[in-house]
Amino acid sequence: MRHLIEINDLSVEEIEELIEVAKDIMQHPENYWDKCKHKKLATLFFEPSTRTRLSFESAMIELGGDVIGFSSASSSSASKGESVSDTIRIVGGYSDIIAMRHPKEGAALVGSIKSEVPIINAGDGGHHHPTQTLTDLLTISCEKNRLDNLTIGLCGDLKFGRTVHSLISAMSRYKNIKFILISPDELRISEYVKKEILDKYNMDYIETKNMEEYMDKLDILYMTRVQQERFFNEEDYLRLKDYYILNESKLEKAKKDLCIMHPLPRVNEISIEVDDDPRACYFKQAKYGKYIRMALILKLLGINYTRRKI
Ligand code: NCD
Repeated sequence: MRHLIEINDLSVEEIEELIEVAKDIMQHPENYWDKCKHKKLATLFFEPSTRTRLSFESAMIELGGDVIGFSSASSSSASKGESVSDTIRIVGGYSDIIAMRHPKEGAALVGSIKSEVPIINAGDGGHHHPTQTLTDLLTISCEKNRLDNLTIGLCGDLKFGRTVHSLISAMSRYKNIKFILISPDELRISEYVKKEILDKYNMDYIETKNMEEYMDKLDILYMTRVQQERFFNEEDYLRLKDYYILNESKLEKAKKDLCIMHPLPRVNEISIEVDDDPRACYFKQAKYGKYIRMALILKLLGINYTRRKI
């Protein structure tokens, strides 16, 4: 039995396979309609979510399976003091696979230890968000046709943003990746990410506060929201929340084939005028999330799928 706690729990070959299956699902959804008949996905969300939870649920429904779960800690027995580990053990008796999100770093790993069914980490605090990264990789593969030779600007809250941490981990395994890490001083990438990933794998990166400085060099600009819920004081959040606002004038020097991504939800960090720019990929990105989650569910349940010849 396999769990997905961090993105590098999957090998590069497995990620490639998931991407190919997701692309095949997009082209031939009818081939997958009953692959998960009589299987149940439980979505246990102790923290708010729109895209991740609903795309998981929609993914399972499109595979012919069923969905159970809760969307807030307050509607579960966590509010009575039940541990994550106990909740997972119980829900494993009612379902075949579990996707869970929790505000505490490491919660999914703890939950997986005693679990009898595969656990998918749908976000653990400021730590990891591997299925967002699978979504991001599918997006990059579809939009740029490659996962190597890329200059990627990561902009915003690089300290608390879990999607950024997982994406950096994933990209450490591809060739010729260069990161431009754009953030205010207070939200710079954590030392542990530098030590355990960027420096460990000798990755090429530059840190800057200036969003426009390297704009002309970027193949991908990955915007992120300042993570209000992980701040200790409101004052700091208010001071930093509008530090970066991407608009058309800031994109003047950007490449014509830049891919602008954002895991969403957006607050103010991308002005709505950018939505009509052909380089804006974030709404497409959210859609890709469903297909890669369909591929992941099939893989973790060990269900055979037909695969397009490549
Ligand atoms: C992200 C998350 O939950 O980390 N959202 C998502 O899953 N698409 C990003 C965020 O909340 O800012």
